[in-house]
Amino acid sequence: MYQVLDGKLVSQSVKDRVRVRAAAHNAKGEEITLAVIIVGDDPASRVYVNNKKKACEYVGFRSLEYALPASTTQEELIELIHELNERRDVHGILCQLPVPKHIDDKAVIAAIDPKKDVDAFSEINVGKILIGKYDLLPCTPAGVMELLDYYDIKVEGRNCVVIGRSNIVGKPMAVLLMHANGTVTVTHKKTRHLREVTNKADILVSSVGRAKFVTADMVKEGAVVVDVGMNRDENGKLCGDVVFDEVAPKCSYITPVPGGVGPMTIAMLMQNTLKAFEIQQSDYEG
Ligand code: GUN
Repeated sequence: MYQVLDGKLVSQSVKDRVRVRAAAHNAKGEEITLAVIIVGDDPASRVYVNNKKKACEYVGFRSLEYALPASTTQEELIELIHELNERRDVHGILCQLPVPKHIDDKAVIAAIDPKKDVDAFSEINVGKILIGKYDLLPCTPAGVMELLDYYDIKVEGRNCVVIGRSNIVGKPMAVLLMHANGTVTVTHKKTRHLREVTNKADILVSSVGRAKFVTADMVKEGAVVVDVGMNRDENGKLCGDVVFDEVAPKCSYITPVPGGVGPMTIAMLMQNTLKAFEIQQSDYEG
């Protein structure tokens, strides 16, 4: 019998932890502020941004939304980021990705002050994560680790297989699993004999972004399966990468979609914003 890793439950406990600390700051007249930039009108991005704003409200942060038209130039966007970098009353900045094609997302990420980079996408933060000396962690991989920890799922010494090698999920996920002493394999489009590799996984994390990608024949009996996918099926319904109904019976633990990793990402964003605020505050106090 498998157990579902309940992202709603665990994200709630993370947000409640953040909320208590935010209340203590608020009581001292300090308002924690997250600036969220969205460029264009991608409907999925709109949903994510709305959820992030809702979470800010719940934990007691102020959120500032900058909804810019798709015609915004890279220079205009970067100028806004520079302004937000300078503002002492803004503690976290994120630009929802993807941005329109005429804008280079790497340049946008590089423009964000690493201390306010609550996605932890900047070169400085990525480098710090790699050497294990980090303040801010990328939200989705950090959310997966939090979920494993909550259910007391041990990573040490276990075979961990990550499907996907994106900068946002796959690569940092592999690094965090390594820091937790997992034995990590990263697979991707060019991986040969993928099924043979995934079948050795005690912990399998899928972040390919393709519906029905992970099937029962790819999963070892008793594995922990974490589904980072956020896809739409043929009926437009939100689904992950994993064929849940056929994979779940083989698992010890599995995340659902929705209600698994998704809510964790947002909770970790709140945690990062709190951390960024606290670090900036201690910097100013010198
Ligand atoms: N687009 C998809 N996931 C993310 C994320 O975690 N952060 C940002 N900024 N954009 C995204």
